[in-house]
Amino acid sequence: MTDNDQESETLPQVPEPNWRGFIDLPDFPSLDKDIHVDVVIVGGGITGITSAYLLAKEGLKVAVLEAGKLLDGPRGTITAKITAQHELIYDELIRHFGKSKARLYYEANIEALNFIKKTVEQHQIHCDFSLQDACIYAATDHYARRIEKEAEAYENIGIDGTLINTVPFEIDIKNGLIMKNQAQFHPIKYLAHLIEIITEKGGLFFENTTAVNIETGKQPTVLTREGRRATGSHVLACSHFPFYEGLGFYSTRMYAVRSYVLAAKTKKAYPGGMYISADQPTRSLCSATINGEEIVLIGGQSHKVGQGKNTLEHYKALEIFGQQVFGLDKMVYRWSAQDLTTLDKIPYIGEITSGQPNILIATGYRNWGMSNGTAAALLFRDTILNKKNVYQDLYTPSRFFAHPSLKNFLVENASVAAHLIKGKLDLPAKSAEDLSNGEGAVITVKGHRKGAYKDEEGKLYIVDTTCTHIGCEVEWNNGDLTWDCPCHGSRFSYTGEVMEGPAEKPLQQYDHRILDNLTSEDSGY
Ligand code: FES
Repeated sequence: MTDNDQESETLPQVPEPNWRGFIDLPDFPSLDKDIHVDVVIVGGGITGITSAYLLAKEGLKVAVLEAGKLLDGPRGTITAKITAQHELIYDELIRHFGKSKARLYYEANIEALNFIKKTVEQHQIHCDFSLQDACIYAATDHYARRIEKEAEAYENIGIDGTLINTVPFEIDIKNGLIMKNQAQFHPIKYLAHLIEIITEKGGLFFENTTAVNIETGKQPTVLTREGRRATGSHVLACSHFPFYEGLGFYSTRMYAVRSYVLAAKTKKAYPGGMYISADQPTRSLCSATINGEEIVLIGGQSHKVGQGKNTLEHYKALEIFGQQVFGLDKMVYRWSAQDLTTLDKIPYIGEITSGQPNILIATGYRNWGMSNGTAAALLFRDTILNKKNVYQDLYTPSRFFAHPSLKNFLVENASVAAHLIKGKLDLPAKSAEDLSNGEGAVITVKGHRKGAYKDEEGKLYIVDTTCTHIGCEVEWNNGDLTWDCPCHGSRFSYTGEVMEGPAEKPLQQYDHRILDNLTSEDSGY
């Protein structure tokens, strides 16, 4: 066994955090009767909860429907960056959309940052909020040139940026670009406080309530999986991947990217600030305090969902990087998260389909959900109150054919088409007997392609590898023990249950007796 093998075997022992353990939040009921409110909000993340807070403050009756437990989903984190420095973006935005739209994007995100800061101060929310400089750095000539161009873009549209050529830890950089006075906070603590305020104002929360469809009309109605109806003057779809697409074709206009985080105690103290590399694979650094101890969050290794190969390798790469830069004392947590990217990198926020003003959607934030999600909530509030919002055109989801969306649309859908076909006809060489305990893989069972995971006790879990969204082949993720779909990012547990949509139905599950009983007539292919 090599040293590297030993390192990778230690990683499964590093736990995922219990997100709800950071807060004192009561359980909320599931929706067990039909309701009628002013605004039905689907999704209890930063967009849904901030929208509920803003609208409840305006005296509107709101109901938030969350498919799982509030603040406990796969979108949790201990520390989140709130910044308008979204990697290298402004040079690209100027080239594609012009200076004024690029400047608007910056302003929307700075306004969101200021809103969070003001809200934290106003309600004295203990959420570890602190102002931090954001820095993007390059360690290679290629990305150093791109940082220079980004610095020019900052100057062009009036963003205060500073070029640097060193960082206060052991990475040899070529250059870096700082955006001052950005921020970080503990989003779960922040949102838990907003939930309390919303509840005091009469807002309703329903957990374990999955929205599956919308009946359109003057008073749109959200239908739940259990057959309940939630009706309002407006519906806000804030469920990460849209649970309802209308005629917006969102599945064809976004792709999902997975990234990884290691939270570790380090030998060297963290110097403060929030860092991200322009070079690929991305490295992201910031710090958090847990029980009075400083923890460094080392993130990166992003890849399209279902295309990440050996996912444990991603954690291992972060571990090696953290070891080199800070020296690791102990890895405290690890987790991965999934983000959606639109074709032009600007989120889709606004009317779900042009001309449908009472159903609004927000999705496609990339890694930058704190500021973009808050900007979405502010835009939703203004739309519902019939107030002008200067960011409406920038974010409108109906900007479909703006350059470079068309090219990316074709590329993405060619990729989905390829994944729809890929693999269905291949029969892997592995069979269930070849699996070691703790191992998962696509296997062949009597001439049929199936997915299998053998747990640490040797119990076998077999699923159909056809994604229940539109039928791409899911791939095994051995870092998280999940089945991931490369087409639109649905994720399923090893037992086949849906963990992240757009898929709504579980993978077909098989009893282990399938190994004896399957015949050639059972083939669905
Ligand atoms: Fe769309 Fe799997 S086919 S998520």
